[in-house]
Amino acid sequence: MSLRPVRFLRRGRLVEVAEVHPRTTLLDWLRLRERSCGTKEGCAEGDCGACTVVLARLRDGRMVYEPVNACIHLLGQCDGAEVITVEDLAEADGLHPVQQAMVEKHGSQCGFCTPGIMMSLFALQHEGGAPDRDAVNEALAGNLCRCTGYRPIVEAALDACSRSPSDRFSKTEASTSKVLAALDDGSDAWFGDPQAFFAAPASEDLLSRILEETPDATILAGSTDVGLRITKALEPIERIVWLGRVKGLDRVEDLPDAVVFGATVTHARALPHLEAIDPDLGDMMRRFGSKQIRAAGTVGGNIANGSPIGDLAPALIALGATIELRKAERLRTIPLESFFIEYRKQDREPGEYLRRVAVPKLRPGELFRCFKISKRRDEDISSTLGAVKVTLDGDLVAAARIAYGGMAGTPKRAPAAEAALIGRSIKQAATWRAAAAALPGDYRPLSDHRASARYRMQAAQAVLVKALAEMAGLPSASTRLHPRREASLAAE
Ligand SMILES: Cc1cc2nc3c(=O)[nH]c(=O)nc-3n(C[C@H](O)[C@H](O)[C@H](O)COP(=O)(O)OP(=O)(O)OC[C@H]3O[C@@H](n4cnc5c(N)ncnc54)[C@H](O)[C@@H]3O)c2cc1C
Ligand code: FES
Ligand code: FES
Repeated sequence: MSLRPVRFLRRGRLVEVAEVHPRTTLLDWLRLRERSCGTKEGCAEGDCGACTVVLARLRDGRMVYEPVNACIHLLGQCDGAEVITVEDLAEADGLHPVQQAMVEKHGSQCGFCTPGIMMSLFALQHEGGAPDRDAVNEALAGNLCRCTGYRPIVEAALDACSRSPSDRFSKTEASTSKVLAALDDGSDAWFGDPQAFFAAPASEDLLSRILEETPDATILAGSTDVGLRITKALEPIERIVWLGRVKGLDRVEDLPDAVVFGATVTHARALPHLEAIDPDLGDMMRRFGSKQIRAAGTVGGNIANGSPIGDLAPALIALGATIELRKAERLRTIPLESFFIEYRKQDREPGEYLRRVAVPKLRPGELFRCFKISKRRDEDISSTLGAVKVTLDGDLVAAARIAYGGMAGTPKRAPAAEAALIGRSIKQAATWRAAAAALPGDYRPLSDHRASARYRMQAAQAVLVKALAEMAGLPSASTRLHPRREASLAAE
């Protein structure tokens, strides 16, 4: 086994990481080591976007420009990417088009949020196409501005992003791609010492060996949860095993009856596949964190962290997903719902990791709905999230899977509500009411700063009635502000 240092591209130079602690964040490295202080620290927890930088990477052979929160992104995670910060945008002959548009539209006052906003807009412009107002709002959901107001910023974005990028990055994209492709040589990376290290294995076999030898090491995927344990809980995490370079774990397999997500598939990459299963999943994923969080956070990380308010778990439980885990040579597959044992306790042994998640597609006669309830529309954690899958035999409910997040110590099914539906006509409002009335038999939710127990239960009941009413044929226009996008659902 030959180990090389973590390395990334920065301003045309190859940087090899040495003599930094494994839990060093990209933001600290930029500001304290490189002294590139344009990138700001606001919240240090991935919420405000002041620290947004862009990582250019090759994904499926194509160059992508992904905005990430440098405050919670560890330096080692930059391996194989080009790191682009606000200092890199302007060129000798003037500002970058996104900067120039912000000047012309008066998009900045105190300026603290501005570098992060520039980087989000830079990433948006490099996505290509001319984004509409919705796309701009989505791109800015992870960037808080407290003094300018968003109207001029959105106008600047619409203006600048209506033109294809013509900057030093687009001009040198072919040569940069070659360098990044050469960096992706399948080798294993490592820095630190046996007590404190950042390991980036390239194969599952080496990953398994490292985890067997150091079962107490912290598994790291996108770092959108682990990062906060470092910056907010100040946990002295010493030994880190990053999954981001493991070949195969980032694969999406679109099979005829299921989509199989490798554990490190990011939310951004998972979104279109989930949306193709059902448009509600697309809407839910667009409200998952922000663009920055979705670019880094992974499907596997969202499940493995075992949070009772994680968004994917209840939706995927309702769909009947299974997960595959590996420890050394042993593979096992279990239903997702049985992974969650109790609050923050999962069916995962030390040294075992989540490999992949198989999500069944909807079959003829199966209907699905899912609703996220949170205080804010964008970038907010769910108070509750309800997901319902029903199999119909004519008008009768032949099978039902209902799952909620935020209603118990784990994401959990609702057996009493499911039983109340079986064999009854979905067309009758009495059926919907019976299922909702059964929910208090399934859950005893808590009160906390997000929502009271009473609110959670009432919201959960309302969501269930809404799902069933829509499935019964009540037009979604009368149950939603914006009608559900019906897409091309063969199953419906
Ligand atoms: C600003 C912000 C907004 C957020 N919004 C949402 C939201 O709307 N909805 C939501 O559900 N969550 C949200 N989150 C939480 C977080 O983004 C998600 O849980 C995300 O999916 C975590 O994935 P990750 O790859 O970043 O995991 P990491 O932080 O890398 O890891 C999370 C945990 O899982 C473990 N782990 C990771 N991968 C594996 C694996 N393959 N096998 C075994 N263990 C593993 C790690 O050891 C760690 O304990 C938000 C977080 C932030 C900071
Ligand atoms: S400093 Fe607020 S998101 Fe990073
Ligand atoms: S310009 Fe002051 S916070 Fe945005």
